[in-house]
Amino acid sequence: MSHPRVEPDVPSSIVVARTIADLRAAVADARHSGRTVGLVPTMGALHLGHQALVEAAARRTGYVVVSIFVNPTQFGPGEDLDKYPRTFKRDLDLCAQGGANVVFAPEVDEVYPRGSLGAFVEVPADLGEVLEGASRPGHFRGVATVVLKLLHMVQPDAAFFGAKDYQQQLVIRRMVLDLDVPVRIETVPTVREPDGLAMSSRNRYLSEAERSAATVLHRALMAAKTAVDAGECDATRVRQIARLTLESEPLAAVESIDVVDADTLKPVDRIGDRRRVVALLAVRVGPARLIDNALLVG
Ligand code: PAJ
Repeated sequence: MSHPRVEPDVPSSIVVARTIADLRAAVADARHSGRTVGLVPTMGALHLGHQALVEAAARRTGYVVVSIFVNPTQFGPGEDLDKYPRTFKRDLDLCAQGGANVVFAPEVDEVYPRGSLGAFVEVPADLGEVLEGASRPGHFRGVATVVLKLLHMVQPDAAFFGAKDYQQQLVIRRMVLDLDVPVRIETVPTVREPDGLAMSSRNRYLSEAERSAATVLHRALMAAKTAVDAGECDATRVRQIARLTLESEPLAAVESIDVVDADTLKPVDRIGDRRRVVALLAVRVGPARLIDNALLVG
């Protein structure tokens, strides 16, 4: 490796790579010793949801790379790029506990050395410009492009994403399929707090009152799922049921409630017909914009 800078407080089981060259050298060593490679892309501020991804990667591959990079190109103007939480030392402990081997934590210049990019991944509009993509223009282009860069830097056998960001993992799967990227994409179930709140780096933005109000997303999804399990197949009514629960919480402002085909993200009218169906919510609670989802028919 080229002059690795001295890193304080790095658990002994992992190494920190700050440059693509150091990262590639570490991965090449692992490859030479016959190990398969897994990649877990993250933006840091890690929690047990991220750790579940690292653990899944450690079970399924022999050498686990976790990237920690707050990617500026996926944040829109006025979003939380500047105040995105950074907890690097704690992140390293979580990576070590999950079974990671190397943490790739580059500066912005290392990933974008020419300042901006000339080439991007163009995400298909039907997946990338609906739902989250409609309220965050350019978001999935930024995500897909940085993930493709990370896949090229690491060349892993498998890459691991959370079901928490349902649309994101679909966008990545479609990119890998369309561009023949030789990697297996694995989706790991959402990890929740005991009261049902999906773990998220953005939960840190919540006050105590907002934190307990935020459980309303999971409650609304459960109400929708219970209705479907009891035979409700009108998607409009299912959305109304979710809305009623969300609107019972004064600290929650509903942004969107969608009931869509789980593979194409096209809205469905009737639930059933052998299609997998997912419900997706975006809700503002205090300063945080929270998302969550649940399969209604899986
Ligand atoms: P980040 O929000 O840090 O999430 C990293 C990964 O952790 C994503 O695949 C996300 O779906 C997963 N994750 C987050 N919360 C989870 C939970 N409660 N349970 C299970 N998995 C969870 O998503 C991103 O970063 C970025 O867009 C990235 C893919 C790294 C590209 O910059």
